[in-house]
Amino acid sequence: MNELRHFLEIDDLSPGELARVLELCTATGPSIFERSTVAFYFEKPSLRTRHSAEAATVRLGGHPVTFSASEVSIGSREPALDVAKVLSGFHALIGARVFDHALLDELASVATVPIINLLSDLGHPCQALADLLTMQQEWGSLSGRTVAWIGDYNNVARSLALGAAMSGMGIRLGCPTGYGPDDADLDRLRIAGAADVVVSDRPHVAVEGADAVHTDVWASMGQETEAAARHQAFEGFQVDDEVMGAAPDTAIFMHCLPAHRGEEVSASVADGAQSRMIGQAHNRMFAKIGLFRWLHEVGSL
Ligand code: CP
Ligand code: NVA
Repeated sequence: MNELRHFLEIDDLSPGELARVLELCTATGPSIFERSTVAFYFEKPSLRTRHSAEAATVRLGGHPVTFSASEVSIGSREPALDVAKVLSGFHALIGARVFDHALLDELASVATVPIINLLSDLGHPCQALADLLTMQQEWGSLSGRTVAWIGDYNNVARSLALGAAMSGMGIRLGCPTGYGPDDADLDRLRIAGAADVVVSDRPHVAVEGADAVHTDVWASMGQETEAAARHQAFEGFQVDDEVMGAAPDTAIFMHCLPAHRGEEVSASVADGAQSRMIGQAHNRMFAKIGLFRWLHEVGSL
């Protein structure tokens, strides 16, 4: 097999391929980059994504070349199509964190190396890989478990829910009115394999029976002007001891980070015994190792 595969959203993989990526996250194996370079482009700030991408690349024998929009603004200094064609000649792979998901589609339309979504307005599939890996390590397997999401059905939520659906998990979404999944999102979850998706505007209801409770910031990068309105709309959606108390005692708490203690999560939950968010962040590197190894396995690297 020798095909070019991109990773713009988690359902670019089949459920079997997703399971294989998760298997490869902690597998040992040879260096795959053989001293070649890997490009990582950032239009937005990053701690975990940049460091995990660079660390994974070096662990697999490659050299990361990270650059930001302040150095070379793709689509503004020169057209995205030219950038994708040029960078394809230098690097084994191109990762990009962008405001507009359409830029990833544009890069992928002409790149001759894999394009990886490092977060867009629509999805954060590398985060979802780490989230699924963390839950799999917690329970041994994902199928039959239930994940609850409290907050905005945003980029992180969309990728996580799709990955959970593909892994045979139940999905319970607790979103303020107007911030939940739309019909297209729900259709996509069904296509991904979701049997039953519960959507509620009451966090206590959403976490009932959940094995893991996830949340994220109320205003994502790029939504700063909406922050005040969102704070109002998300009142009552903080994952605090009371909300965690409505979930089973065995439920774990997860957050992609950065976290705003006192807003979407209380300090007691973020730093409490049920929290797995630091291990989840560490898994960002293993998730990329699994993804890169899988791309190598299918002949894309
Ligand atoms: N979770 C996550 O993507 O973190 P960064 O924005 O710091 O990369
Ligand atoms: N939803 C957040 C995730 C950050 C990792 C954002 O897009 O800013």
